[in-house]
Amino acid sequence: MWDYSEKVLDHYRNPRNVGKIDNADLIGEAGSLACGDSLKLYLKLDGNKIADAKFQTFGCGSAVASSSILTEMIIGKTLDEAKKITNKDIAEELGGLPQEKMHCSVMGHEALEDALKKYYGGKYEENTPVETSDKIVCTCFNVTENQIWEAIKINNLKTVEEVTNYTKAGGACGRCKGLIKDIIDTYYKGLNKAEIKEPLTATQKILKISKVIEQQISPELQKDGGDIELIDIDGNKVKVKLTGMCQGCKNAQMTLKSFVESILRDKVDTNIEVEQV
Ligand code: FES
Repeated sequence: MWDYSEKVLDHYRNPRNVGKIDNADLIGEAGSLACGDSLKLYLKLDGNKIADAKFQTFGCGSAVASSSILTEMIIGKTLDEAKKITNKDIAEELGGLPQEKMHCSVMGHEALEDALKKYYGGKYEENTPVETSDKIVCTCFNVTENQIWEAIKINNLKTVEEVTNYTKAGGACGRCKGLIKDIIDTYYKGLNKAEIKEPLTATQKILKISKVIEQQISPELQKDGGDIELIDIDGNKVKVKLTGMCQGCKNAQMTLKSFVESILRDKVDTNIEVEQV
């Protein structure tokens, strides 16, 4: 059971501003029913001020609470003021959200951003510099590179698990976890998004695994009189055989498996699993 603040529970039980504005000036959308939750945000403007805001959501209690508090936060604000609201602000205003539910605050921010982009004639990016390439990283939840990048930047996310909590990316089949890790690494190395590695094809991955074993792992093991032989690669499953001094010693084999796995995960793909045969 999640630990919810009183404010989250209050907004969940008594959501404010639920519904639709028939003649809304701006409508923002985020999420999708296929992905488990969605939000539609309606804004009525008075000049450049948000005179009214309503929402319709399909999602969990945290999604209802995040959407509800968001409408309260933006009513009366100018569009420029609203533009500065982040998912972190939404979560803080609610008195915090469980880590696993932070993606609900992100959905609120994305719906607001979507509505405001329409106001700025699709030039919202120029006002808050966000790079334009927006590849889908997680096909299970339709999460893009920009969304992950922004979630990392705003919330100082450092692990794939945190990114999953905030964006849902990586929370189903897990195929995108390697790419999420690359985005995190690229961000913290201070690099540009253009430098995020493209996912390897199956052939490229096999070649890279073979190369890392041959050029980095094997020489390390040879220093202690052991060695490693690559037996088979099937997707992310890598079968290896220990040779030389490493044979027969269970502890050494377990240590070696972790050693090989950590290097392959670091250099090739975070999802790699090593098996000894
Ligand atoms: S592609 Fe991201 S969880 Fe399946």
